[in-house]
Amino acid sequence: MSMQDDMAVRVEDVWKSFDHGRIEVLKGVSLNVTKGEIVALCGTSGCGKSTLLNVISGLEDVDRGLIRVAGQDVVDEKTRIELLRHRIGYVFQFHHLMPDLTLAENCLVPVIAAGGGKAEGLARMQELAVATGVAHRLKQPVRELSGGERQRGALVRALMNDPDLLLCDEPTGALDESNREKVFELLLELVRSRGRTLVLATHDPELARRCDRTVRMRDGRMEGEGI
Ligand SMILES: Nc1ncnc2c1ncn2[C@@H]1O[C@H](COP(=O)(O)OP(=O)(O)OP(=O)(O)O)[C@@H](O)[C@H]1O
Ligand SMILES: [Mg+2]
Repeated sequence: MSMQDDMAVRVEDVWKSFDHGRIEVLKGVSLNVTKGEIVALCGTSGCGKSTLLNVISGLEDVDRGLIRVAGQDVVDEKTRIELLRHRIGYVFQFHHLMPDLTLAENCLVPVIAAGGGKAEGLARMQELAVATGVAHRLKQPVRELSGGERQRGALVRALMNDPDLLLCDEPTGALDESNREKVFELLLELVRSRGRTLVLATHDPELARRCDRTVRMRDGRMEGEGI
């Protein structure tokens, strides 16, 4: 197996701007993550962490540079959809659950999109919901859930298809200390026990310390890349 095949994520000299180039956010960022690695992505607010996760997931286009997930170029629409359906799980900074659907319905969306079996999906959802402490909320519309419940629900949704690569953007930001600990432990355990890969944007140095490696962004680049 070549080095490249062993790479879960490859980001090479990626540039990304908004507003027709007026707002430059990623300015030549590079990052390699090997399969099974748990990487904390740190850096001050506004340095580009969420934007980096968005371009890795293929939800945002890059202006230039290379993004490869599981050895596949995140360029054409077909590859992106394939990766998002089957290989990538994403816990967004602001959860992005659909407010009028129940938590259970939200969690089943990725299963349906991937063509998975309903019975299997329901069983997995139950297991994950119990583990994250939201089983009693599954039948409620998301708009009735607390911030922390939504965050934990978003984690359940992201894990439904057992993704190879999990991208988490401040997944415990809205949780109290005991829930933060519980959810983070669960996250590490699920990812480690299955040899999955995790990239986690966090402001919490305590959580970052427990990851395999911390990379630090500053002003759209990785620290130590000549800024
Ligand atoms: N769609 C957009 N249009 C214009 N500017 C954007 C857009 N998305 C992000 N930005 C800008 O890009 C910069 C980086 O944003 P990003 O959300 O990636 O930062 P972050 O490191 O995740 O910050 P935080 O820690 O606060 O979540 C910010 O200045 C933000 O205003
Ligand atoms: Mg962010």
